[in-house]
Amino acid sequence: MKIHLQTPQEIRPQIWKELGRASQDRHHEWRTPVLASTDADGLPDARTVVLRQVDVVDGQLTFYTDRRSPKVPQLQAQAQAVLVFWSARLGWQLRVRVACTVITTGPEVDALWQGVKQSAAAGDYLSPLAPGAVLAQGHATVNEETTDAPMPAHSFALLRAQVLQMDWLELSREGHRRAQLSATTWAWLTP
Ligand SMILES: Cc1cc2nc3c(=O)[nH]c(=O)nc-3n(C[C@H](O)[C@H](O)[C@H](O)COP(=O)(O)O)c2cc1C
Repeated sequence: MKIHLQTPQEIRPQIWKELGRASQDRHHEWRTPVLASTDADGLPDARTVVLRQVDVVDGQLTFYTDRRSPKVPQLQAQAQAVLVFWSARLGWQLRVRVACTVITTGPEVDALWQGVKQSAAAGDYLSPLAPGAVLAQGHATVNEETTDAPMPAHSFALLRAQVLQMDWLELSREGHRRAQLSATTWAWLTP
């Protein structure tokens, strides 16, 4: 039986379709990519994030974060970062080079916060302590330590990643394939 190998004209829109699905479906394997950035010493840093919005037309991926988290100053100093997605179902790894903008104020943040603040995730953005702040000895959660603290202002922020380039790798019994693509280019690479 002859197997149909997808062409670049088919793969590119399918990548974006899967990213769009991942932003809607919390069970999609591309829902939680790893975002790798560079710290102040030029060293690598990386963490898992949740893909929240995908804009195919503008080539943008959006994430939510706490504006006080260490990744924010890292991305403000060096906007270029890499997102890594893997899906066993698709057999696809996607490494996406992006330029990040952190949006901390404005109508878009306000509108999204209205929704988030009514969700179970609201507490993530209302902690009186910044992510990564050291807790007092013997305390494992912020709540234990700060039950008397007044309700802080939210620190909800958006992380907008402009896609610059993608490295797509397909693992398959029929032979692995790999390509580097930008909005206008496609080059097959040795897997
Ligand atoms: C499944 C999962 C999803 C996560 N999603 C997010 C997210 O969407 N945004 C975020 O800022 N942190 C998220 N985190 C926490 C980060 O991985 C990280 O621990 C935190 O943001 C602090 O990172 P930083 O010190 O590099 O700023 C998630 C962690 C896990 C395990």
